[in-house]
This record gives sequence, C-alpha cells and structure tokens, in this order.
Amino acid sequence: MLFDTHAHMDSPKFDDDREEMIERARAAGVETIVNIGFNRETIPTTMALAEKYPFIYAAVGWHPTDAIDMKLEEDLSWIERLCAHPKVVAIGEIGLDYYWDTSPKDLQQIVFREQIRLAKRLKKPIIIHNRDAHADVVRLLQEEGASEVGGIMHCFSGSWETAKQCLDMNFYISFGGPVTFKNARVPKEVLEQVPNDRLLIETDSPYLTPHPYRGKRNEPAFVRLVAEAAAEIKGISLEEIAKLTTRNSLECFGLAR
Ligand code: NI
Repeated sequence: MLFDTHAHMDSPKFDDDREEMIERARAAGVETIVNIGFNRETIPTTMALAEKYPFIYAAVGWHPTDAIDMKLEEDLSWIERLCAHPKVVAIGEIGLDYYWDTSPKDLQQIVFREQIRLAKRLKKPIIIHNRDAHADVVRLLQEEGASEVGGIMHCFSGSWETAKQCLDMNFYISFGGPVTFKNARVPKEVLEQVPNDRLLIETDSPYLTPHPYRGKRNEPAFVRLVAEAAAEIKGISLEEIAKLTTRNSLECFGLAR
C-alpha cells in the first residue's frame, strides 16, 4: 500500500505505454497517485487522468517557470473553478525556481503569492516547488501566512534548517528518487530527522528516477524504491514506511476516511 504524492503521468514520455505504466504501479502496490497539472497544457491532461482513474487525484496550479505565460486573473479563476472538482486535492505545484531563467523573479513571486492567497480562500493544501530559492520560498510562505493551509514541500532538497521552518508552517516534507542515491548525504540526513507524521514519498515521474534506474524514465511503480530507502534511513520496515506515508498523504490531501 503505497501513495505517490507527485507524478506527471500525462507527460508525452508516457504516450506509448501509459496504460501499462499505470498497471505496473498498481502491481507494485501503489494504491493512490496525485498527478500534477502546472500550466495551460498539463492542467487539462491532468484532469483527464483524474477523471478516468478512480485512484488518480489531481493537483492544479501554475508553475514558477511558466509564470510568464500566466494570464493572472483569468488563470486564477480557472484554477479556482477546477478546485471545486471532487478529484482536485491541492493547489500546485507552485513556488519559485531560480535555476531555470525562464520567468523573472518578481513575476514568479506575484504568481506564487496569488496562489497562496487563493489556496487560503479555498482551504486547499499547496504543493511547493523550490529550486535554488530556499530563502525566498520560506519568506513568502511566512509573509502570506501559508501555515493556515499547509501542504507539501515537494522533492525536498534543502537543509534541516529550512525543513524545520517548513514543518513549523504545517508542511509535510516529501522525498523522491534522490534519497536512493549513494552520494545524497543531505537529503538522507534531513529525511532521518523529519518526524514520522510529516514524512511523504513521491516519484516526480518521469523525472528524478531512483537508483538503480537513474538516467532512465521514472514511473510511479518506482515509489517503492523511495519507500525502501526511507525505511532503511529511518531504521523501520518497508511496511511501516508504507503505512505511515500513506496515512500522512490521506491526511494532507483531506482524503482520510
Ligand atoms: Ni513536478
């Protein structure tokens, strides 16, 4: 029983074998997957997946690298309308990306702030994308009072100091493929310290493929490898990790029964 909190199964990289890939995830024990729609193209394809499969849910939001393409008012109301759909469980991925120089920083920050405000209004958790922008991400989350909704720090790559600040704001910390890499000292140390009731796992498929498939396409079935690495780091069984990360995911997305 595993829960992949972050996947892009609508990616064209799966066009040749999407059905089989989803079947492999089910066979690997992946019970639930949240697919992320993050711009004009991927929001509709994400909604289509969530409507087709009972075990696939959707998160919708505007990615910082695509901030430049956002028609702020129009697209915010599009996201707001979609949030009323029963399969939409979060707003995301949203945040800041200072690595890819595709959208100006000030514009990224406006788009990020507006979506935090929307999430607070709609009482939805947020999924945070953060690349090379730790300080500003934490600052904006604090300034906008994001602790009111909380959410997920997706594929967390920051320090324990940053993780602590996010935990204080009611965020879950989610780990992906990098914790399976031999040389990934920092994420492993952070994972070890994250309280069990705040730990999540994900794949970010088709990206960030775990060892031993690094360099190949990632898929949700491989979340099991992330779970195995997490179990080893925490010194508990795979069953326990699966159970607690699934429980946390259901809680985070408001799916707990
Ligand atoms: Ni993503």
